[in-house]
Amino acid sequence: MSKTLWKPGTMVYPVPAAMVTCGTMETPNIITVAWTGTICTNPAMTYISLRKERYSYDLIKNQGQFAINLSTKALVKAADYCGVKSGREVNKFEQTGLTPIPGLIAQVPIIAESPLSIECEVTEIKALGSHDMFFAKVLGVTIEESFMDRDGRFRLDRSELVAYSHGAYYELGKSLGTFGFSVQKKKKKKPSPQKRR
Ligand SMILES: Cc1cc2nc3c(=O)[nH]c(=O)nc-3n(C[C@H](O)[C@H](O)[C@H](O)COP(=O)(O)O)c2cc1C
Repeated sequence: MSKTLWKPGTMVYPVPAAMVTCGTMETPNIITVAWTGTICTNPAMTYISLRKERYSYDLIKNQGQFAINLSTKALVKAADYCGVKSGREVNKFEQTGLTPIPGLIAQVPIIAESPLSIECEVTEIKALGSHDMFFAKVLGVTIEESFMDRDGRFRLDRSELVAYSHGAYYELGKSLGTFGFSVQKKKKKKPSPQKRR
């Protein structure tokens, strides 16, 4: 193996290409955000990092709320559009055909077509440099009921989620294992009926 050292950069991939909604039902906006993630399980906390020049920056700072809507294969073109066009110039809901609906707990619109929207309240804004980090408390997670199966499980795995890696979007592929599978004991194979003695 042979390694080359690059200058400091942001190469933690894959990340989400989430569509963050903000504003009001009358003047809703969407900004695509890759710098987002979970920062605490209990209390449930998340973050988004935004450049100050984003139109959404002031909307979220002033309103103190936003929602993170997960992107899927069907929504990836809209997600890209919301990441290259500014709400200063266009109404991104109208242009993408996405449907704004009121958040179920936060006072911000969410995207009807997204399987999952994380409704958040800003708790702190930390200036870091190019981006400011918005720490946020999760107020509630709104899920699309059509992804519930008959056993009452939420089948996010069937929603064709999208990941973003080094400038490109990817659909998630096949499952390689579930949490803890590396240490799970293999189940003994039941002998087939013919071989049972
Ligand atoms: C895949 C992708 C990820 C992005 N991630 C971020 C991000 O994490 N933070 C940010 O400030 N801008 C990010 N952007 C850029 C904004 O989405 C873009 O500048 C957008 O037009 C801003 O919209 P607004 O002016 O309506 O707020 C990203 C763009 C793309 C395409």
